[in-house]
Amino acid sequence: MPVEADAIVLFGATGDLARRMLLPSLYFLDADGFLPDGFRIVATARGELTREAFLEVVHKILSDRPEGLDEAIWARFSARIAYVGADATTPEGAQALKAGLGEATRPFFFLAVSPSLFEKICVSLAAAGLATPESRIVLEKPIGRDLATSRHINGVLSEVFDESQVFRIDHYLGKETVQNLIALRFANTLFEPLWNSLSIDHVQITVAETEGVGARWPYYDEYGALRDMLQNHMLQLLCLVAMEPPADMEPDSVRNEKVKVLRSLRRFTRVDAAEKSIRGQYTPGVVGGKSVEGYEAERGQKSGTETFVALRADIDNWRWAGVPFFLRTGKRLPEKRTSISIQFKPVPHSIFGQASIHDLSPNRLVIDLQPDEDIKLTLMNKAPGLSSGGMRLQSLPLSLSLLGAYEGKGGRRRIAYERLLLDVINGDATLFVRRDEVEEAWRWVDGVADAWAEANIQPKPYAAGSWGPAGAFALIERFGKAWSD
Ligand code: BG6
Repeated sequence: MPVEADAIVLFGATGDLARRMLLPSLYFLDADGFLPDGFRIVATARGELTREAFLEVVHKILSDRPEGLDEAIWARFSARIAYVGADATTPEGAQALKAGLGEATRPFFFLAVSPSLFEKICVSLAAAGLATPESRIVLEKPIGRDLATSRHINGVLSEVFDESQVFRIDHYLGKETVQNLIALRFANTLFEPLWNSLSIDHVQITVAETEGVGARWPYYDEYGALRDMLQNHMLQLLCLVAMEPPADMEPDSVRNEKVKVLRSLRRFTRVDAAEKSIRGQYTPGVVGGKSVEGYEAERGQKSGTETFVALRADIDNWRWAGVPFFLRTGKRLPEKRTSISIQFKPVPHSIFGQASIHDLSPNRLVIDLQPDEDIKLTLMNKAPGLSSGGMRLQSLPLSLSLLGAYEGKGGRRRIAYERLLLDVINGDATLFVRRDEVEEAWRWVDGVADAWAEANIQPKPYAAGSWGPAGAFALIERFGKAWSD
């Protein structure tokens, strides 16, 4: 049994991720009684800030949230917090952290900082004797920009920490419905016999966002939609849909199965680049009734980076041969929506007379991750009432809404990081990405990027507020399918 951590050292404690996600998640974990007694929060950043000033900032962040702040919980939570204003990449900084940890001996280090600091922080933790076998390290993406750079970062980590101590976050794995996908597949007898190329026609995964890139431009322009979203979140979703049943829920059992899927992804060729993918970049338009500027205007700079990508992925294995997986993601699309749609094959023959086989909609299992978390299974049924000239059929969803199922105070929706932070505290790495997974995902994504470069595939413009370039529709139609909305 892994030991329970007794402290978090939060690097980048005044940054965006800490403010929006990590500090609120720690607070909610405390509110729900999940933080162990005596658990310490050592917040660190380079800024010269007193503990009091930092606590004021955190108090405001929590009070401004829709859930509001409970002063009694705040009293307990704030007592756990130490603030260390230091440069953790220097020996003095690391010593200051050591002092901040006090009696804690099993800390985890959460690097909510620029990846350019990962290496220096690891080296400095090791030099200060803080990287003990009882410690853990948590990293956010991006872990590299391609296979070579991700190998470098992973190599540095492995010199200081054993792989079992490394927790690579993909926050999509902390989302309730993503975990529910595992339950749906492996806690029911209904789907698994149908979960293969005999019954499934194709799979669609859509991650649509209304937000533009804005202040994140310098980072984003280096990465683009392929590296920012597809390499990690979307391939993780694809793996969970496509993996074989793991032997159990042990971290390595699940991760072994995901890696096999990544290894089975068919490498993109130059011809595929044109036929099976499309890149887009948003131009001015209207999103949610508001006029917004185009990607290049946000920074006043020309760019060849894609803010939209759609592609067909093929998994060359026994289960999925011939079943296309269509992936689509973009910024400045009409709505924020993440969904996985599994489309089953049509019935082999229609007995319904003029309701020919084409009128019978194939069954579809739709797993919505956001904005609503629900699972729908569309089924054909008889339209109620009388009709002459044969039975009228209609397609209706069986719906499993997870809204009422939220645990936590007031049925609020948990932040994905709550689950993930709790798992790090308990040492459960099932929902974290192993080194070989990251590297296999990069290997495949590098293949797509290389194919684009060879075939000189440039981003096509699309108006903000639209569903991407027209080519995204042509792409899926080329294979006889349509995006399901
Ligand atoms: C991040 C990407 O990993 O995920 C962002 O870097 C993106 O560009 C975000 O906006 C989306 O996350 P969510 O949870 O809002 O779907």
